[in-house]
Amino acid sequence: MSIKRDKWMQYRILKGTSSLAARLPETRLLKLNELAKQLHQYQSLVLKPRAGSFGRDILFITRDGANSYHIHSERKTVTMKDTERLLQWIGKETGNRGYVVQRRLQLAQIQHSPFDIRIMVQRRKGNASTWNVTGSYAKVAAKGYLITNVPSRIIPVPEALKLARLRDRSLIVKANRIALLAAQRLGGRFPKLRQVGFDIGIDRNRRIWIIEGNYQPDLQPFRLLKDSSMYHKIRWYQKH
Ligand SMILES: Nc1ncnc2c1ncn2[C@@H]1O[C@H](COP(=O)(O)OP(=O)(O)O)[C@@H](O)[C@H]1O
Ligand SMILES: [Mg+2]
Repeated sequence: MSIKRDKWMQYRILKGTSSLAARLPETRLLKLNELAKQLHQYQSLVLKPRAGSFGRDILFITRDGANSYHIHSERKTVTMKDTERLLQWIGKETGNRGYVVQRRLQLAQIQHSPFDIRIMVQRRKGNASTWNVTGSYAKVAAKGYLITNVPSRIIPVPEALKLARLRDRSLIVKANRIALLAAQRLGGRFPKLRQVGFDIGIDRNRRIWIIEGNYQPDLQPFRLLKDSSMYHKIRWYQKH
């Protein structure tokens, strides 16, 4: 049995830890009658299905004038010059699936494509076990995409930071620490939880953000790395 995937529930759990609150981009449940006001406040928002994964059905909305909006999904961009039409369109697109609205981060880029970092955190079986970072990689969005899920380029984190000209080594240490803290919090809430794959963003001001934690993270990208030691470590933790 896996723990329920729900971006809204996870946000509220993590937000309850004061040291993590500032690492979470402002998030709300989508309500169409609040969206215009929110677009006024933030200019650029991300709409995501509460139970979504693989970057599916994610919409990026940007306001670039009084009543002018761009919607970006997958590789396509739609422009709308009317707030009512925008809301209608979004209502149709999201249907009655639960969605969250999140402030869009200005993620650091590699050759004009945003990237983020997957940090794998695990604990062994047994009540007293502590959380450990067992692996990480960076995923660079494919050309034209704002999501880094599919199809993306998988590279080691130090290489990504170098390519993005973020030469600050302490970023890795900080990001790992934030992922560990978040795992502790989620583990406190879900005693059976033993692994979380966090999507961690670094913005253009070198600020670190928790985008989400995945309870059933895909391990395939770890196999794509030249160095397979993280993959083996992760598998070992899963079995012990
Ligand atoms: N608030 C945000 N600002 C900028 N990019 C985002 C934001 N939220 C998500 N993304 C991008 O979209 C990707 C998918 O979002 P995520 O929340 O991980 O949903 P999913 O469960 O579909 O993977 C992230 O890895 C990131 O690249
Ligand atoms: Mg994700």
